[in-house]
Amino acid sequence: MPIAVAETISELREITAEARFAGKRIALVPTMGALHAGHLALAQRACEIADLVIVSIFVNPMQFGPTEDIDRYPRTLLEDLKQLEPFGVSAVFAPSVAEMYPTGSSDTRVTAGRVGSLYEGHTRSGHFDGVLTVVSKLLNVAQPAVVLFGQKDAQQVFLVKRMIVDLNLPVAVEIVPTVREDGGLALSSRNRFLDVKEKRAARGLSIALEAAESSADRGIDAVLAAAQSVLMGEHLVQLDYLAVVDPQTFLPVDDVYQGRAIVLVAARVGSTRLIDNAAIFLATARS
Ligand code: PAF
Repeated sequence: MPIAVAETISELREITAEARFAGKRIALVPTMGALHAGHLALAQRACEIADLVIVSIFVNPMQFGPTEDIDRYPRTLLEDLKQLEPFGVSAVFAPSVAEMYPTGSSDTRVTAGRVGSLYEGHTRSGHFDGVLTVVSKLLNVAQPAVVLFGQKDAQQVFLVKRMIVDLNLPVAVEIVPTVREDGGLALSSRNRFLDVKEKRAARGLSIALEAAESSADRGIDAVLAAAQSVLMGEHLVQLDYLAVVDPQTFLPVDDVYQGRAIVLVAARVGSTRLIDNAAIFLATARS
């Protein structure tokens, strides 16, 4: 069956109402398009766990800051549809900005709180309010039983999960592991902006995370030093932040912390901003 493309909320609601009436389990994969194998892994997983899969493709102006060039964000709807075809996705929801924000920019918004102003939120002020607002709108529109996100956006995953708990939203969350190129670079719609040299340098992010992981049994200082030393060796990589956080709170761990942690890294490579993360187990305290 060809993928149905709904451009309006009422078109999508017709599709979901029918499916719900037929007792189908609905999954939503929110994206901003420019799909790559990471998104396709989400679509594939969604098709395994649900009967009707909706992929939303919406470049959300509310999550872009005034200095971020939203017009530079790639828009490739026809190519995206072609890529989704083999997976059994039922519908793509591709609304206009006016459809999603009929009163202009939404004055009513979901705020991401303290964690929303750290790491990505520190560099991109207001970004996560925009993400949470649009995700809550998409959940209201599609009313899926399950929504899927990629682990690459670890802070987004944390904040969305917390919003779902805080606002008692009736939806399960499924997280899909990061898909990487050979050489380790995490797939991102932004990778297309990297030239050959920048791409080689960008691999430094995942190499730094591997170095962090293999130093985890020597405590947090060793983790940070190992990652930093890899990144400092890449002159095209301009580090934005490197942090080790507690997965329960997403706050930085202190030097006596032991247990599961996430290493976050963000850097600019040329004019392209990249993020990545890795789970580690901090086994010993700082000596
Ligand atoms: O991860 C993204 O692509 C976006 O932040 C999302 C979740 C689709 C919201 O616009």
